[in-house]
Amino acid sequence: MNVLLAGGAGYIGSHTCVELIQAGHSVIVADNYSNSCPEAIRRVEEITGTSIKTYDADVCAAQAVEQIFSENEIDAVIHFAGLKAVGESCEKPLLYYRNNIDSTLTLLEAMHRHHVTRFIFSSSATVYGTPEEVPLVETMPTGSPTNPYGWTKLMMEQILTDTQRANPQMSIVILRYFNPIGAHKSGRIGEDPNGIPNNLMPYITQVAAGRLPELGVFGDDYPTPDGTGVRDYIHVVDLAKGHVKAIDYSADHTGAEIINLGTGTGYSVLEIVKTFERVNHLTIPYVIKPRRAGDIAECYANAEKAAKVLGWKAELGLDEMCFDSWNWQSNNVNGYK
Ligand code: NAD
Ligand code: UFG
Repeated sequence: MNVLLAGGAGYIGSHTCVELIQAGHSVIVADNYSNSCPEAIRRVEEITGTSIKTYDADVCAAQAVEQIFSENEIDAVIHFAGLKAVGESCEKPLLYYRNNIDSTLTLLEAMHRHHVTRFIFSSSATVYGTPEEVPLVETMPTGSPTNPYGWTKLMMEQILTDTQRANPQMSIVILRYFNPIGAHKSGRIGEDPNGIPNNLMPYITQVAAGRLPELGVFGDDYPTPDGTGVRDYIHVVDLAKGHVKAIDYSADHTGAEIINLGTGTGYSVLEIVKTFERVNHLTIPYVIKPRRAGDIAECYANAEKAAKVLGWKAELGLDEMCFDSWNWQSNNVNGYK
């Protein structure tokens, strides 16, 4: 199977390249490297011992995307190519709406022209908004995202559902990711955010590496067991394997399916810090700070649909997530640079 990975050089995309290749698929990567670099793909080639066809392309650009579709026999598309920084999306909403929605429309139009019917989309648990109860089930109503990034995901889910309805031969799988952390076992690929990280795990690893002095824990007065926020952290390799299952599923099913990719277990910020310290024999200095605007107390998945529909279940636990995150960061103190 030839799979086009839009945004395939990024954190989740690069791990998915590895898993797809190891499952016997061929991948083609299109990325404009706005939040990644070609070195990530070079390392995927190193891990898998294969050569990967890549395009330095903005997938919002119709001509560039047309070229990719005319030069390759594409069977399925996985769309990772989005901007994802919540804070930045509040400052630059037009950039987010333009990039995230345009890229989706451009890819779908090219697929239509070239009769490609299988599309896997990176959505996010953020579309649930502020949940009334956890765990989150796919049938629960979506909420009001607290930022433009979240709105782009919700809008794209709608665009995809409408597109599939009008094109019943299509198979669209909308994957709602929870909180991916960890890295490939080799320590050669991992998360490499630009600037100061927004997310918890890269912040912790940069504190551990001495790049940042201490972690700020955003709030210890939530209605959770230790007062800090609870999330469903999932190993990025498990998440990547979920995409392989979605690709397999799309080969013999049509329709639009929305599927959570999470473990079904929530951990608090302090549990993450303590586990990271224990498995890596390190101390992470932290201070309690006020709550971060837009954060919710608890967010974790009901992961039953993924098991039932895709035959997929997360296998790696929190110890491995913390170990592999540090293995990547400690071997690449400055990321890919
Ligand atoms: P990432 O930034 O590492 O990867 C995204 C990739 O897309 C980058 O390589 C970037 O250069 C590329 N890209 C962006 N716009 C592009 C464009 N117009 N044309 C070509 N390439 C473009 O992010 P990630 O963590 O790997 O996330 C992948 C997807 O999953 C994103 O859509 C993100 O919104 C979604 N998601 C991520 C998380 C998370 O916590 N990491 C959670 C939920 C959903
Ligand atoms: N946190 C801290 N200190 C930090 C960073 C985070 O205490 O420096 C806390 C947050 O308050 C939260 C938890 O750690 O309780 C996780 O925060 P992240 O920023 O790592 O992740 P979020 O759950 O806020 O958001 C992430 C992605 C979103 C995505 C969402 C659901 O950033 O894009 O998961 O998939 F929508």
